[in-house]
Amino acid sequence: MDQPKIYVAGHRGMVGSAIVRILQIQGYSNIVTRNHAELDLTDQAAVRAFFFTEKPDQVYLAAAKVGGIHANNTYPAEFIYQNLMMEANVVDTAFRNGVRKLLFLGSSCIYPKMATQPMIESALLTGTLEPTNEPYAIAKIAGIKLCESYNRQYGASHGVDYRSVMPTNLFGPGDNYHPENSHVIPALIRRFHEAKVTKNPAVMIWGSGNPRREFLYVDDMAAASVFVMNLPKSKLDAHVQPMQSHINVGTGEDLTIKELAVAVGKIVGYQGTIDFDTNKPDGAPRKLMDSSRLNALGWQAQVGLEVGLAAAYQDFQVQLTT
Ligand SMILES: NC(=O)c1ccc[n+]([C@@H]2O[C@H](COP(=O)([O-])OP(=O)(O)OC[C@H]3O[C@@H](n4cnc5c(N)ncnc54)[C@H](OP(=O)(O)O)[C@@H]3O)[C@@H](O)[C@H]2O)c1
Repeated sequence: MDQPKIYVAGHRGMVGSAIVRILQIQGYSNIVTRNHAELDLTDQAAVRAFFFTEKPDQVYLAAAKVGGIHANNTYPAEFIYQNLMMEANVVDTAFRNGVRKLLFLGSSCIYPKMATQPMIESALLTGTLEPTNEPYAIAKIAGIKLCESYNRQYGASHGVDYRSVMPTNLFGPGDNYHPENSHVIPALIRRFHEAKVTKNPAVMIWGSGNPRREFLYVDDMAAASVFVMNLPKSKLDAHVQPMQSHINVGTGEDLTIKELAVAVGKIVGYQGTIDFDTNKPDGAPRKLMDSSRLNALGWQAQVGLEVGLAAAYQDFQVQLTT
């Protein structure tokens, strides 16, 4: 195989590490990485020096400052500044060093708070964003527009082909299981595991359990990323427009938080009851991506929820011991 030199930015994160795993499984062996301590992507001079030295052929931009509602609310300046700087530095420096293929990872929070469900790509910039993570979402939208703008200005002249994917909620190996600062699946895994170990007869879940959410196993996300990166341009161009080029990545299916809690409890082997604290807020009633654009391009999620949850629980147990 003709081996492109591939830079995976954020390779120690949940998504970046899964991208490295999938690339290696698919036979790509010329992968270059730097951790945050070695290369701060907000530092333009350092990013330029790195690209000048390494001269990668392709870039997966999976590095980002990410966090939950509390972190987004407490550190909005850091979220907008660091994400804008990382994207601007990596995209521009990639261009200056002849990188033709780059994949930017965004998030479903780019869509308006009141977007029609399931959320379709054309909903971008049609309404007001969710205020709690607006600075982060604005940075992610800027990332999409950076890629599109470099394509529009330098596509024909320099062969620039920068693409964006917008994942739904992800889970799996490498997730963050912090007791106060984690997403819903890792939080449920920890709570059911602790309840099992302490023989707690009931676990209380915030809210009614009725909101519907979508979850994608992280290895599926990584596989989708490699798939989109490698799609022939003519095929991709038949499904996207120059100023609306991002691609949603989801399973196309959602479930209630109650159904999810039951599934996690079963995987963990928790025997007690699950109660719901209806005094706590529910959030949006439904959040589901429309992934038909990606499906039409030929990609579908492979890992079912139960299989993914079992792998995530195994990962949690490994993390507990390390
Ligand atoms: N996880 C999800 O459910 C989810 C859902 C939708 C979209 N996404 C998107 O997927 C991407 C990756 O998310 P993730 O869940 O893999 O996050 P993650 O586990 O926190 O990984 C992010 C990585 O970026 C690195 N990083 C942060 N700031 C950096 C900087 N200034 N310079 C260099 N490296 C830096 C981090 O290194 P340090 O930890 O050392 O700082 C970390 O390795 C993000 O764009 C996110 O928006 C994730």
